Amino acid sequence: MSAFSEANRKAFNDLSEAYNSKPWQRKLSSQVSDALQERKDWIGVQWATEDNKREVKLLDYACGTGAITKALGPYVTSMQGIDISEKMVEEYNKAALSSGLQPEQASAVVGDLFAEKVPDSLEGPRFQNFDVAVVGLGFHHFEDPALAVKRLVERLKPTGVLLLVDFVPFGEERKREEELRAQNPDADFPDMSRTIKHNGFERADMEKLFTNGGLEDFSWAVLDEQAVMELPKGTVHRTLFIARGRRPATVWGKLTTWFGGMQDQASGQVGSVMRADHGR
Ligand SMILES: C[S@@+](CC[C@H](N)C(=O)[O-])C[C@H]1O[C@@H](n2cnc3c(N)ncnc32)[C@H](O)[C@@H]1O
Repeated sequence: MSAFSEANRKAFNDLSEAYNSKPWQRKLSSQVSDALQERKDWIGVQWATEDNKREVKLLDYACGTGAITKALGPYVTSMQGIDISEKMVEEYNKAALSSGLQPEQASAVVGDLFAEKVPDSLEGPRFQNFDVAVVGLGFHHFEDPALAVKRLVERLKPTGVLLLVDFVPFGEERKREEELRAQNPDADFPDMSRTIKHNGFERADMEKLFTNGGLEDFSWAVLDEQAVMELPKGTVHRTLFIARGRRPATVWGKLTTWFGGMQDQASGQVGSVMRADHGR
């Protein structure tokens, strides 16, 4: 594990128990959850519904205690969390079990998909062919965004969707935070500054990452309401975005859609002839 990933592991282990304990933390989770649920159609996954319980697999990467799983759980049939912090994984699994979910419906494992060699424990059908892979508020903690997109895309099924929720650039705000920290160096525990690699992302950065990662149908939304974080060093504001892109269908999948469309057209024509016949 790289030194940077190790810093993340340690810091989030320290944060895990108190991760959802403060009102601002719960507010942030529900902002993200509401934003995703309101944009369910825009996300573009064929979700499971009461009438159609088709299999829909969610990968909640950098899952923490499971905020994304909770937000999108009602629309999928299985949820797989992965996180580098074993304490976060423990919290996720405790929460899933106490909600009455069986481990085959929702569970998390410790892992780092961005390691030089992806561990064997993250291989096998359970970790492949996701309909949707989501990273909620984790992307700015990743060392190499291009590698992260590549490794996540590999886990999607053809036509699967990659969804990122993160912050737009907060460089100026970060400067002010550094000043606050200098005034009170012991205020933050753990020191999160060594776990953050990127001070947010612009739409153009994201679009390039998605396109270079082989995704299509890029789309981006900025949330109206800012996130407010009451950190020990002071109050911090962030603007949230959601980015989405789709892994292309296989050639066979594209042909099936093409022929399916032709069949629909043909049956539409037959249908309109029949309706015309009826009309006579
Ligand atoms: C800010 S938390 C977000 C947790 C959760 N997704 C949410 O929305 O509340 C970031 C998470 O990313 C995890 N993380 C950081 N680097 C990671 C990596 N390389 N692989 C997997 N998880 C990572 C941390 O352990 C932490 O749980």
